[in-house]
Amino acid sequence: MSKNKFYVTTPIYYPSGIPHIGTSYTTIAADVVARYKRLQGYDVMFTTGTDEHGQKIETSALKEGKLPQKYVDEIVEHFKNLWNLLGISYNKFVRTTDLSHKKSVQKIFKKLYNSGKIYKGKYKGWYCTPDEAFFTDTQLVDGKCPDCGREVTWAEEEAYFFKLSEYADKLLEYYENHPNFIQPESRKNEMIQFIKSGLDDLCVSRTSFNWGIPVDFDDKHIVYVWLDALTNYITSQGYASDNETDFYKYWPADVHFVGKEILRFHVIIWPAILMALGLPLPKQVFAHGWILFGDGSKMSKSRGNIIDPVILSERYGVDALRYFLMREFSFSSDGIFTNEALINRINFDLANDLGNLLSRTVAMVDKYFGKALPESQKEGAIDNELINFAINLRKEYEIKMDNYKFSSALSNVWLLISKCNKYIDETMPWKLSKDPNKKDRLARVMYNLCECLRIISILITPFMPDTSKKIQDQIGAHKHKCTWKLASEWGILPYNLEIQKGDSLFPRIDVKKELEELNKMVENNAKIAANEFKAKNEEAAENVVRLIDIEDFAKIKLIAAKIIECEPIKKSKKLLKLTVDDGQGERTVVSGISQYYTPEELIGKSIILVSNLKPAKLCGVESNGMILAATCPENKVKVIFVDEEIPAGSKIC
Ligand code: MSP
Repeated sequence: MSKNKFYVTTPIYYPSGIPHIGTSYTTIAADVVARYKRLQGYDVMFTTGTDEHGQKIETSALKEGKLPQKYVDEIVEHFKNLWNLLGISYNKFVRTTDLSHKKSVQKIFKKLYNSGKIYKGKYKGWYCTPDEAFFTDTQLVDGKCPDCGREVTWAEEEAYFFKLSEYADKLLEYYENHPNFIQPESRKNEMIQFIKSGLDDLCVSRTSFNWGIPVDFDDKHIVYVWLDALTNYITSQGYASDNETDFYKYWPADVHFVGKEILRFHVIIWPAILMALGLPLPKQVFAHGWILFGDGSKMSKSRGNIIDPVILSERYGVDALRYFLMREFSFSSDGIFTNEALINRINFDLANDLGNLLSRTVAMVDKYFGKALPESQKEGAIDNELINFAINLRKEYEIKMDNYKFSSALSNVWLLISKCNKYIDETMPWKLSKDPNKKDRLARVMYNLCECLRIISILITPFMPDTSKKIQDQIGAHKHKCTWKLASEWGILPYNLEIQKGDSLFPRIDVKKELEELNKMVENNAKIAANEFKAKNEEAAENVVRLIDIEDFAKIKLIAAKIIECEPIKKSKKLLKLTVDDGQGERTVVSGISQYYTPEELIGKSIILVSNLKPAKLCGVESNGMILAATCPENKVKVIFVDEEIPAGSKIC
């Protein structure tokens, strides 16, 4: 029998900067679901990726003096490395610069155009010439470009449009008939209001920049970002390619995880595109909240906290970070990240509750019995309560997980952990061990604890895969005893337990010392950042092109002049002394071109002369003007020669 499929996605992230704790949050959540579903026996497709086109990326790349492709290649490596570090078990990583994606997008665009869902029109708006970008009325800041603050002008540009306006009623009807499509429920109303306030057709092509997928039947246009980005969810499965097997197998997605700011694109534009293509819609779009930082901002560059996922993973372990992100915040709401909260979770939940339970249990089994426990004893009421709770836990947990209530699911597991710790306090194994008649009872207590740990280890697998494995190794629970099905069954471990004492799972952190250390890092980082900022500003100031007025240009008097004589200046390796005819008479000009020209190559040639430059002495020779030359690749210098028929003294402007 073939397995049921489950398809989960993350948004594809902009590679405009390296991935951070916010992007890690969505990706870890999707990974938790993928692992959970695999554990349940589903055939899972889990995709993530990068959204690499668009003017912003093009501009960022050029600012760094890189070609856009090179720029994105480098950042995408950071994404892949971080996902690797965080144990993200994606099946496919989609890049919108992948050839297969590009080809499929072109086909999709053509299909929509041929069926009349896309048409050619005019994009109108406020245009910022230096930024080559359009803005709407509301985007302007004090009537000026929101990016650079310069004047904007009203402009029109030929563009293709998708007939989004035709889908308002269909979307509302779809929401009505599929009440779980938009989750959490609380965000649905906002989407409905947005549609009711009127949908405009959507601009899906641009001609003002180049970094994108060309419309193949009109290559002046490139596909504008959302059509390129959203379609990743189907192109990754081979839609509109030569091999659509995965598409038929996995589409429609079971859930798209998105941050709340992009819900609108996923529940309005995306379903409309799918309807236009005649394809089924994803079963659900789940918008999660933002992780906010000390200063209330969404962005990852927080003040006063160390939030780099790489540093946090190295300091506390990947599983601790994964656990914290999924346990501390309710997935559908915003939450505030602090290092203190993270350290407290590690100390209380992981070191105290879970870590202690494991180390105490394993140490006691080892001390009192060595490897084998004597076989079964009758259970008392206290045992039955624990056992019932443990075997019913999976059901409760599944209800939470199926609704993406990760924090509640974990909190259920932690209830069992604290019940176990309480059970130890109540049964007092150290006392039982002193009474030879209680050996059986002691064995039963130990066995019950190991069984609970086995169930706990299974249920935490999606969140903390490494920790789960470590627990199973320490209690000697072989893999086949830890299947999903066996998470709700009792008496699975054999009596001859193969206990393997191991390191403590999560060492306790000295909060005060750790926070002091982190503060020092923050201060240090602030200093480094300030220096980098200064250096970047200086570099930018050097590269900046300062615009001049026409009056400024008019101050420079350019004329044609003819070189009559030329000789090297003895004291210099670079300079040539030129005698030129400027139409009025002769004058001497010194030029640093002796590495590139011999005097013979120059004599008789006409050049452009800056004729009103103040005289300057170079190696003892007075220069009266400057000849124009171009700096070519590899720093080669080429003099700009002009047509010899242009008489010396002719004005150039
Ligand atoms: N490229 C688009 C998405 C296209 S999907 C077809 C995009 N990219 S993004 O790089 O800006 O990533 C946005 C996503 O990153 C958010 O939707 C959210 O999932 C995640 N997060 C970024 N910062 C976040 C927080 N501070 N908190 C939680 N999630 C955050 O939009």
